[in-house]
Amino acid sequence: MTVDQLDPPPPPSLRDLRPPPRFAGVAFETYAPQDPTQVAARDRLQEFVLGRAWRHEEATRRAAEPTARQTRTLRWPWRRQAPQPGAGLYLDGGFGVGKTHLLAAAYAAADTPAKRYLSFQELVYLIGVMGMARAQAEFATSDLLCVDEFELDDPGNTLIVKTFLAACFAAGTAVVTTSNTPPAAQGQGRFNASDFKREIQSLAASFEVVPVNGADFRQRLKQGSWLSEAELAARQDREGSPAPRLIVAWDELLELLRSMHPTRFGGVLAQVGSVYLHGVRPLASQNDALRFVHFVDKLYDRQVVLRASGEGPLADVFDASYREGAYAKKHHRCASRLAELLGEEVGERRPSVTL
Ligand SMILES: Nc1ncnc2c1ncn2[C@@H]1O[C@H](COP(=O)(O)OP(=O)(O)O)[C@@H](O)[C@H]1O
Ligand SMILES: [Mg+2]
Repeated sequence: MTVDQLDPPPPPSLRDLRPPPRFAGVAFETYAPQDPTQVAARDRLQEFVLGRAWRHEEATRRAAEPTARQTRTLRWPWRRQAPQPGAGLYLDGGFGVGKTHLLAAAYAAADTPAKRYLSFQELVYLIGVMGMARAQAEFATSDLLCVDEFELDDPGNTLIVKTFLAACFAAGTAVVTTSNTPPAAQGQGRFNASDFKREIQSLAASFEVVPVNGADFRQRLKQGSWLSEAELAARQDREGSPAPRLIVAWDELLELLRSMHPTRFGGVLAQVGSVYLHGVRPLASQNDALRFVHFVDKLYDRQVVLRASGEGPLADVFDASYREGAYAKKHHRCASRLAELLGEEVGERRPSVTL
């Protein structure tokens, strides 16, 4: 299929906030720690989710108990259990150390239906479209909120997220989040973070920081690279990759990514099984680079097959002028994910459907 055959993607919605396909089946048991901090992080997170009395469990237990009136015994009001206050855990570390794996494992292990998993960017977007009051009311019913990739990119987000999270904690919600940046260093290099020191410090204070160190786990996996145009064409003809297969030229992809909010990229990729991307070249602007990073994040999360033609090392898709700047970690993470995606073999041959 081609770009003009794609349907307009829907905006993110409150329904279906769960881990993406790549992380849908992960568990604490499938996490193989490679570093002492990873053992500690796994144990702390496991204790955090298994040790909590979820409000929904409390409600079920209370409903099952006979009421004081039925049993004709007197119940002292102070014996009623106070609701557990909210709590926050912040997994902080480099990319590829398994933070998202652990986050999705926590989601899976939490024995409550009132749990939600989404990316930080999706969260900020949802608060924006719903308005703060409605977002707070909707999310206040959650026992557990899992937020992947906490990144304060602009001052507006800082205030919004601080207010929103304070309300979550007050409502008794447990929040687990992952980030490549320690909480107190959020915003640095991206905006005048010192003007928001108070807000950032208050955010940081509401989380227990759990460091996750170690080498990029993806280095252990087969590393892919750009293909030549001839190799890409041959793969496109012969490879039994999942359908529908989107065939797209580099400039066409960049146009597509510029035409919508990044929170819609997931909705685009929900429509395809594989992407054949022709003629990757270095990205001249930081804006295009951030859009491409986000697109690769979604390809990765959704386990879409990617094949691409280009030249040189993968990291060189980001121009030297900004590569090591404020978003350096995002660029490195993207190169790591690209290497994993491009190295992934296609499973058994599946019939390809032409739309
Ligand atoms: N210790 C581990 N045991 C098993 N799989 C791991 C481990 N660490 C990472 N992985 C796998 O490596 C990939 C990258 O991990 P991920 O959780 O995305 O890292 P991060 O979020 O820290 O960048 C995922 O496929 C994940 O399941
Ligand atoms: Mg991650």
